[in-house]
This record gives sequence, C-alpha cells and structure tokens, in this order.
Amino acid sequence: MAMARLKVGVLISGRGSNLQALLDAAASPAFPAEIALVISNVPGAGGLDRARAAGVPVATLDHRSFGKGVDGKAGFEAALQSALEGAGARIVCLAGFMRLLSPAFVARWQGRLINIHPSLLPAFKGLDVHAAMIRAGVKIAGCTVHFVSAEMDAGPIIGQAAVPVLPEDTPETLAARILAEEHRLYPECVRRLALGQASIGAGGAVTLAGSAPSGALLNPPPSR
Ligand code: GRF
Repeated sequence: MAMARLKVGVLISGRGSNLQALLDAAASPAFPAEIALVISNVPGAGGLDRARAAGVPVATLDHRSFGKGVDGKAGFEAALQSALEGAGARIVCLAGFMRLLSPAFVARWQGRLINIHPSLLPAFKGLDVHAAMIRAGVKIAGCTVHFVSAEMDAGPIIGQAAVPVLPEDTPETLAARILAEEHRLYPECVRRLALGQASIGAGGAVTLAGSAPSGALLNPPPSR
C-alpha cells in the first residue's frame, strides 16, 4: 500500500506561480505531500484557476467580508482555521499570501506554517525587496523558505537559493531570476518537511538532514 502523503493547505492572494510549482511537484505520486486545499483571500486570484486545473479544492475567504479591526481578523482566521481543519491540512504554505497572520494563528500552527520570501533573509524583509537589493548594490540575491513566526519574515530558515545580481538588472529582471529559483526551492523544502528532514533545533534554528549541496556562487566569478 502506498504511504499516506502529508496534506498541505496553501494560502494565496495572487497569480500563484509558487502554488503551481507545489502542484506540479505533488502531481508525482513519489512526492511525500499532497495539496489538499488552496485558499485565497482575494476573490478571482489567478492561483485559484491553477488549483482548479489540477483538481484541487479551492476556497475564497475574502478578508474584507469579515469586517475591520481585531474582530474582523479573528473572524477571518477562524474561517481559515476551520477550512484548513476540514481539509485535514497538516502543514500550511503561504505562497504570495498578502495578509499578516495574528500571533495566535501563528502559534496554533507553530512548526507547521511556512512562507517563501524573495530575498536571502534576514536581509531585505518586507515588500519591494528587488528594488531595495538593487539600490543596496548586493551582488548575490535569492529567496528563502522559512517557518512563520509572529514577527514578519523572521522565522527559522528552512532553505535558501542564491542568484547573481547583474549590472543591467531592473527589479523586474531580478525578480524573474529569483522567482525561477523559488519554484525549485519551495517544493524541495516542503519535501524535506514532509519527510521529517527539517526540524527546529534547541537553539531555534532549523537542522537539515539528507543530501547537502557542494560548490558556491561567486559574483564576480573567479577569472582564470
Ligand atoms: C513570490 O515572489 C513570493 O516569494 C512572495 O510573493 C510572490 C508570490 O508570487 N512571497 P506567486 O503568487 O507565487 O507567483
């Protein structure tokens, strides 16, 4: 009998290209996780069509319909919680989900809630990071998959991918180069998590088991 795959809920707000990478990975029966539900807080988000095309159940929970303030947020998160529980989700992936989750929600999913961010954290947290990286003149950029903590973009790091920043880069070209790596990194991190190969150690950092990389990215590259 095939082993049960870990059920994953994915939260989105937009086009869902990272969701697509997860759907594509999970299309293989050998992948140790399956996408059980996709939830968007934005009605009509492009990612919803990607989920439907893959035969994955979708839900739209428009945060605005729950009202403003603390009560609105609590109502929205209660609806998220019951949808995720209803789908049997064991881990939750944020994939371009543009709402900040409350400390209470984050605590409930501690060690089971992960996010992808388009920088090499802890550098360049927040929004508009591609322009910020170009302004700062960094020569290597990248993306990070991390556990979500109450503080934004600050939880324990599971995995990272690095790309060079080129002299002619615009925020758009850099974003595209990073995004291609996001699509490789996110499924790999979910795989490690599902296999129990990414666990938060006593010091609060993630220890990775399994295969490790070799080689380094240098920019400028060594000349011969
Ligand atoms: C990605 O760049 C991701 O790192 C960030 O939001 C973007 C979402 O893109 N958190 P997509 O919706 O997955 O295409």
